[in-house]
Amino acid sequence: METLGYYNGDIGLLDEVRIPMNDRACWFGDGVYEAAISADYTIFALEEHIHRFFNSAALLQMVPEITKTQLAELLYTLVHKVDSPTQSVYWQMTRGTAPRTHAFPEHTSPNLWVMIKPFTMPDIYQKVQLITVEDTRFFHCNIKTLNLLPNVLASEKAKQAGCAEAVFYRGNRITEGSHSNVHIFQDGVFRTAPRDNLILPGISRAHLITHCGELGIPVDETPFTREELFAADEIMISSTSTFCMSASHLNGCKVGGRAPELLRQLQDAFLDAFRRLTRAGSMPIRERCA
Ligand code: PDD
Repeated sequence: METLGYYNGDIGLLDEVRIPMNDRACWFGDGVYEAAISADYTIFALEEHIHRFFNSAALLQMVPEITKTQLAELLYTLVHKVDSPTQSVYWQMTRGTAPRTHAFPEHTSPNLWVMIKPFTMPDIYQKVQLITVEDTRFFHCNIKTLNLLPNVLASEKAKQAGCAEAVFYRGNRITEGSHSNVHIFQDGVFRTAPRDNLILPGISRAHLITHCGELGIPVDETPFTREELFAADEIMISSTSTFCMSASHLNGCKVGGRAPELLRQLQDAFLDAFRRLTRAGSMPIRERCA
């Protein structure tokens, strides 16, 4: 074969093997991988790669259904099917196949993928040019990206604690939830994190700000702290699927509940607008989206 794709036992050319959309790689990047090089049908440093692979999996609380030896044997079987003296050997394991929900699914088992392609040995004696780039990994929360692993892990932590959501902080600053934005009422003011690269600019958040304007509720978009979160009159989370819900407890402590009328006003406004706009079912799509 010129290239090889393997998915849970299915083998074919890379362009031919099919993956179910509900594989958690698609929705969350929820998996671990390794890449190694094979020359003359010997995979270089395979033991080390397999060791790191199992370690990465354990760190994500994934339990492979294959032993280290079985994995090595499988990789060697597949390497022998590809007609190239030097090969790139890539494999990954994803948490499984399940309907999209951030926390770990209850009933699923890992999926094993392997990709083998011809590899051209580099001329390592050639000189190369480089550039520097600021390390901004995990600083792109304003992009609705599929790389949701930190969100998945936080969401699972919340679920394990019997909670609906995990609230992220950086230093002392509250940013957002694992799959929602977080806001507070403090002395009659609606406070929400600023729209920068540390939060997703939530559509529900934007609607809440608009409703505050209509209701005459002042809005403050400067960062608020963990202390201010705990001391807030109300704590709210907002997202497309939760709309706008308030919190009763945070880390097991009673919170909020001190501005129920204000909270209700804002929730009513949100729900009224939702009902009004979704009732416009007879309106042509072009007008609805104008
Ligand atoms: N999540 N912040 C994060 C990290 C989110 O994932 C979401 C939405 C929000 C709220 O955005 P919006 O109001 O536009 O839904 C904020 C969706 C619901 C999800 O991942 O399922």
